[in-house]
Amino acid sequence: MKMLSRAQATQGRLLALTQALSRQALHAVTPCLSKAPFLARFERAGAFVAQWAHAPRAVGAVCPSGISLARRMAAMVPPGDGLVVELGAGTGAVTRALRARIAPERLIIIERLPAFCRLLRTRFPELAIIQGDAARLGDYLPPDRPVSAVVSSLPLLSLPAPAQNAIVEQMRKVTAGQGCIIQFTYALWGRSTLARAGCSRETRAMVLRNLPPARVERFRP
Ligand SMILES: C[S@@+](CC[C@H](N)C(=O)[O-])C[C@H]1O[C@@H](n2cnc3c(N)ncnc32)[C@H](O)[C@@H]1O
Repeated sequence: MKMLSRAQATQGRLLALTQALSRQALHAVTPCLSKAPFLARFERAGAFVAQWAHAPRAVGAVCPSGISLARRMAAMVPPGDGLVVELGAGTGAVTRALRARIAPERLIIIERLPAFCRLLRTRFPELAIIQGDAARLGDYLPPDRPVSAVVSSLPLLSLPAPAQNAIVEQMRKVTAGQGCIIQFTYALWGRSTLARAGCSRETRAMVLRNLPPARVERFRP
Protein backbone atom coordinates (compact mmCIF):
# COMPACT_ATOMS: atom_id res chain seq x y z
CA MET A 1 0.00 0.00 0.00
CA LYS A 2 2.78 2.35 1.05
CA MET A 3 4.78 1.46 -2.08
CA LEU A 4 1.75 2.14 -4.27
CA SER A 5 1.18 5.62 -2.85
CA ARG A 6 4.91 6.39 -3.15
CA ALA A 7 4.82 5.30 -6.79
CA GLN A 8 1.74 7.47 -7.38
CA ALA A 9 3.44 10.46 -5.75
CA THR A 10 6.55 9.97 -7.93
CA GLN A 11 4.40 9.63 -11.02
CA GLY A 12 2.58 12.86 -10.09
CA ARG A 13 5.86 14.71 -9.64
CA LEU A 14 7.20 13.42 -12.97
CA LEU A 15 4.01 14.47 -14.71
CA ALA A 16 4.18 17.99 -13.23
CA LEU A 17 7.83 18.27 -14.25
CA THR A 18 7.13 17.06 -17.80
CA GLN A 19 4.26 19.53 -18.14
CA ALA A 20 6.42 22.38 -16.89
CA LEU A 21 9.24 21.52 -19.28
CA SER A 22 6.87 21.19 -22.23
CA ARG A 23 5.33 24.58 -21.40
CA GLN A 24 8.79 26.13 -21.37
CA ALA A 25 9.74 24.49 -24.67
CA LEU A 26 6.44 25.58 -26.21
CA HIS A 27 7.03 29.11 -24.98
CA ALA A 28 10.24 29.19 -26.95
CA VAL A 29 9.22 27.57 -30.20
CA THR A 30 5.48 27.65 -30.92
CA PRO A 31 3.15 30.46 -31.95
CA CYS A 32 1.02 31.95 -29.19
CA LEU A 33 -2.02 34.18 -29.38
CA SER A 34 -0.14 37.35 -30.04
CA LYS A 35 2.15 37.13 -33.05
CA ALA A 36 4.57 39.95 -32.17
CA PRO A 37 5.67 38.56 -28.79
CA PHE A 38 5.95 35.11 -30.35
CA LEU A 39 8.18 36.39 -33.14
CA ALA A 40 10.33 38.29 -30.67
CA ARG A 41 10.70 35.21 -28.49
CA PHE A 42 11.40 33.04 -31.48
CA GLU A 43 14.07 35.45 -32.68
CA ARG A 44 15.65 35.48 -29.24
CA ALA A 45 15.70 31.66 -29.11
CA GLY A 46 17.27 31.64 -32.60
CA ALA A 47 19.86 34.24 -31.59
CA PHE A 48 20.69 32.20 -28.52
CA VAL A 49 21.26 28.98 -30.47
CA ALA A 50 23.37 30.86 -33.02
CA GLN A 51 25.58 32.31 -30.28
CA TRP A 52 25.81 28.92 -28.59
CA ALA A 53 27.00 27.36 -31.89
CA HIS A 54 29.57 30.14 -32.15
CA ALA A 55 30.87 29.92 -28.53
CA PRO A 56 29.39 26.89 -26.73
CA ARG A 57 31.57 27.06 -23.60
CA ALA A 58 31.02 30.77 -23.04
CA VAL A 59 27.28 30.61 -23.64
CA GLY A 60 26.97 27.43 -21.59
CA ALA A 61 23.35 26.54 -22.52
CA VAL A 62 21.37 25.83 -25.69
CA CYS A 63 18.31 27.85 -24.73
CA PRO A 64 17.63 31.00 -22.71
CA SER A 65 16.78 30.80 -19.00
CA GLY A 66 13.12 30.07 -18.28
CA ILE A 67 10.73 32.47 -16.58
CA SER A 68 10.66 30.54 -13.29
CA LEU A 69 14.44 30.53 -13.01
CA ALA A 70 14.64 34.23 -13.91
CA ARG A 71 12.01 35.16 -11.32
CA ARG A 72 13.63 33.02 -8.64
CA MET A 73 16.96 34.76 -9.18
CA ALA A 74 15.37 38.21 -9.09
CA ALA A 75 13.45 37.34 -5.92
CA MET A 76 16.73 36.53 -4.17
CA VAL A 77 17.96 40.13 -4.50
CA PRO A 78 17.75 41.55 -0.98
CA PRO A 79 16.00 44.88 -0.34
CA GLY A 80 18.26 47.91 -0.45
CA ASP A 81 19.25 50.78 -2.68
CA GLY A 82 22.70 49.73 -3.92
CA LEU A 83 23.54 48.71 -7.44
CA VAL A 84 22.39 45.38 -8.85
CA VAL A 85 24.78 44.04 -11.48
CA GLU A 86 23.75 41.29 -13.87
CA LEU A 87 26.52 39.21 -15.45
CA GLY A 88 25.97 37.21 -18.64
CA ALA A 89 22.55 38.60 -19.52
CA GLY A 90 22.31 36.73 -22.85
CA THR A 91 18.90 37.42 -24.40
CA GLY A 92 17.56 39.12 -21.26
CA ALA A 93 15.30 36.62 -19.48
CA VAL A 94 16.80 37.41 -16.08
CA THR A 95 17.16 41.08 -17.00
CA ARG A 96 13.42 41.26 -17.53
CA ALA A 97 12.69 39.72 -14.13
CA LEU A 98 15.16 42.10 -12.46
CA ARG A 99 13.66 45.06 -14.29
CA ALA A 100 10.22 44.18 -12.91
CA ARG A 101 11.52 44.62 -9.34
CA ILE A 102 14.36 47.10 -9.51
CA ALA A 103 14.56 50.73 -10.68
CA PRO A 104 16.59 51.12 -13.91
CA GLU A 105 19.07 53.54 -12.26
CA ARG A 106 20.14 50.70 -9.93
CA LEU A 107 20.69 48.12 -12.67
CA ILE A 108 23.91 47.51 -14.63
CA ILE A 109 23.99 44.75 -17.22
CA ILE A 110 27.24 43.17 -18.40
CA GLU A 111 27.43 40.81 -21.36
CA ARG A 112 30.46 39.79 -23.38
CA LEU A 113 29.01 38.88 -26.78
CA PRO A 114 28.25 41.85 -29.10
CA ALA A 115 25.19 40.19 -30.69
CA PHE A 116 23.54 39.73 -27.28
CA CYS A 117 24.41 43.33 -26.33
CA ARG A 118 22.69 44.64 -29.47
CA LEU A 119 19.60 42.58 -28.66
CA LEU A 120 19.60 43.72 -25.01
CA ARG A 121 19.91 47.39 -25.99
CA THR A 122 16.88 47.08 -28.26
CA ARG A 123 14.90 45.23 -25.65
CA PHE A 124 15.85 47.43 -22.66
CA PRO A 125 16.72 50.90 -24.00
CA GLU A 126 16.36 52.34 -20.49
CA LEU A 127 19.15 50.18 -19.01
CA ALA A 128 22.93 50.52 -18.90
CA ILE A 129 24.14 47.63 -21.05
CA ILE A 130 27.91 47.22 -21.01
CA GLN A 131 29.68 44.99 -23.48
CA GLY A 132 32.45 43.65 -21.31
CA ASP A 133 34.18 40.75 -19.62
CA ALA A 134 33.03 39.77 -16.13
CA ALA A 135 36.69 39.12 -15.29
CA ARG A 136 37.11 42.93 -15.39
CA LEU A 137 33.90 43.68 -13.51
CA GLY A 138 35.44 46.27 -11.16
CA ASP A 139 36.52 48.43 -14.12
CA TYR A 140 32.92 48.99 -15.23
CA LEU A 141 31.41 50.09 -11.92
CA PRO A 142 31.31 53.58 -10.43
CA PRO A 143 33.67 53.63 -7.42
CA ASP A 144 31.27 55.59 -5.21
CA ARG A 145 28.18 53.34 -5.36
CA PRO A 146 27.92 50.18 -3.26
CA VAL A 147 26.80 46.95 -4.93
CA SER A 148 23.86 45.22 -3.26
CA ALA A 149 23.94 42.16 -5.50
CA VAL A 150 25.71 40.54 -8.39
CA VAL A 151 23.25 38.32 -10.26
CA SER A 152 25.11 35.90 -12.48
CA SER A 153 24.01 33.56 -15.26
CA LEU A 154 27.64 32.93 -16.21
CA PRO A 155 28.39 29.29 -17.00
CA LEU A 156 31.20 29.22 -14.44
CA LEU A 157 31.70 25.46 -14.63
CA SER A 158 32.30 25.45 -18.36
CA LEU A 159 34.77 28.37 -18.35
CA PRO A 160 38.51 27.70 -18.19
CA ALA A 161 39.91 27.75 -14.61
CA PRO A 162 41.85 31.05 -14.95
CA ALA A 163 38.73 32.85 -16.24
CA GLN A 164 36.62 31.26 -13.50
CA ASN A 165 39.07 32.37 -10.79
CA ALA A 166 39.36 35.91 -12.14
CA ILE A 167 35.55 36.29 -12.32
CA VAL A 168 34.96 34.91 -8.82
CA GLU A 169 37.65 37.22 -7.43
CA GLN A 170 35.95 40.23 -9.05
CA MET A 171 32.50 39.17 -7.83
CA ARG A 172 33.82 38.92 -4.26
CA LYS A 173 35.70 42.20 -4.49
CA VAL A 174 32.76 44.30 -5.67
CA THR A 175 30.32 42.78 -3.15
CA ALA A 176 32.71 42.90 -0.17
CA GLY A 177 31.02 44.65 2.75
CA GLN A 178 27.28 44.46 2.23
CA GLY A 179 26.66 42.78 -1.10
CA CYS A 180 25.68 39.28 -2.13
CA ILE A 181 26.21 37.04 -5.14
CA ILE A 182 23.34 35.15 -6.77
CA GLN A 183 24.41 32.40 -9.16
CA PHE A 184 22.61 29.58 -10.92
CA THR A 185 24.05 26.30 -12.09
CA TYR A 186 22.74 23.27 -13.93
CA ALA A 187 24.80 21.07 -11.58
CA LEU A 188 22.08 20.16 -9.09
CA TRP A 189 24.40 18.48 -6.58
CA GLY A 190 27.84 19.04 -5.12
CA ARG A 191 29.67 22.14 -3.95
CA SER A 192 29.34 24.97 -6.39
CA THR A 193 32.23 27.08 -7.68
CA LEU A 194 31.54 29.98 -5.30
CA ALA A 195 31.30 27.70 -2.26
CA ARG A 196 34.63 26.12 -3.22
CA ALA A 197 36.11 29.60 -3.52
CA GLY A 198 35.19 30.27 0.14
CA CYS A 199 31.92 32.23 -0.19
CA SER A 200 29.30 31.42 2.43
CA ARG A 201 25.97 30.21 1.15
CA GLU A 202 22.91 31.96 2.59
CA THR A 203 20.12 30.32 0.70
CA ARG A 204 19.41 28.03 -2.24
CA ALA A 205 16.50 26.87 -4.37
CA MET A 206 15.93 24.18 -6.94
CA VAL A 207 14.07 25.30 -10.06
CA LEU A 208 12.66 22.21 -11.71
CA ARG A 209 10.54 24.24 -14.12
CA ASN A 210 13.50 25.05 -16.29
CA LEU A 211 15.13 23.37 -19.23
CA PRO A 212 17.30 21.86 -17.86
CA PRO A 213 16.42 22.12 -14.14
CA ALA A 214 18.71 24.45 -12.24
CA ARG A 215 19.96 25.30 -8.75
CA VAL A 216 20.07 28.94 -7.61
CA GLU A 217 22.20 29.98 -4.65
CA ARG A 218 22.84 33.24 -2.82
CA PHE A 219 26.24 33.79 -1.24
CA ARG A 220 27.99 36.34 0.91
CA PRO A 221 31.53 36.99 -0.30
C1 LIG B 1 23.68 30.71 -19.79
S1 LIG B 1 23.91 32.13 -20.81
C2 LIG B 1 22.83 33.33 -20.11
C3 LIG B 1 21.40 33.04 -20.29
C4 LIG B 1 20.52 34.24 -20.04
N1 LIG B 1 20.04 34.26 -18.67
C5 LIG B 1 19.34 34.21 -21.02
O1 LIG B 1 18.25 33.89 -20.60
O2 LIG B 1 19.55 34.45 -22.20
C6 LIG B 1 25.47 32.75 -20.24
C7 LIG B 1 25.84 34.13 -20.76
O3 LIG B 1 27.09 34.52 -20.17
C8 LIG B 1 27.81 35.26 -21.15
N2 LIG B 1 29.23 35.25 -20.76
C9 LIG B 1 30.07 34.18 -20.74
N3 LIG B 1 31.29 34.55 -20.29
C10 LIG B 1 31.21 35.88 -20.01
C11 LIG B 1 32.12 36.83 -19.48
N4 LIG B 1 33.39 36.50 -19.17
N5 LIG B 1 31.71 38.10 -19.28
C12 LIG B 1 30.43 38.46 -19.59
N6 LIG B 1 29.50 37.61 -20.08
C13 LIG B 1 29.89 36.33 -20.30
C14 LIG B 1 27.52 34.51 -22.43
O4 LIG B 1 27.79 35.30 -23.56
C15 LIG B 1 26.04 34.18 -22.26
O5 LIG B 1 25.24 35.21 -22.76
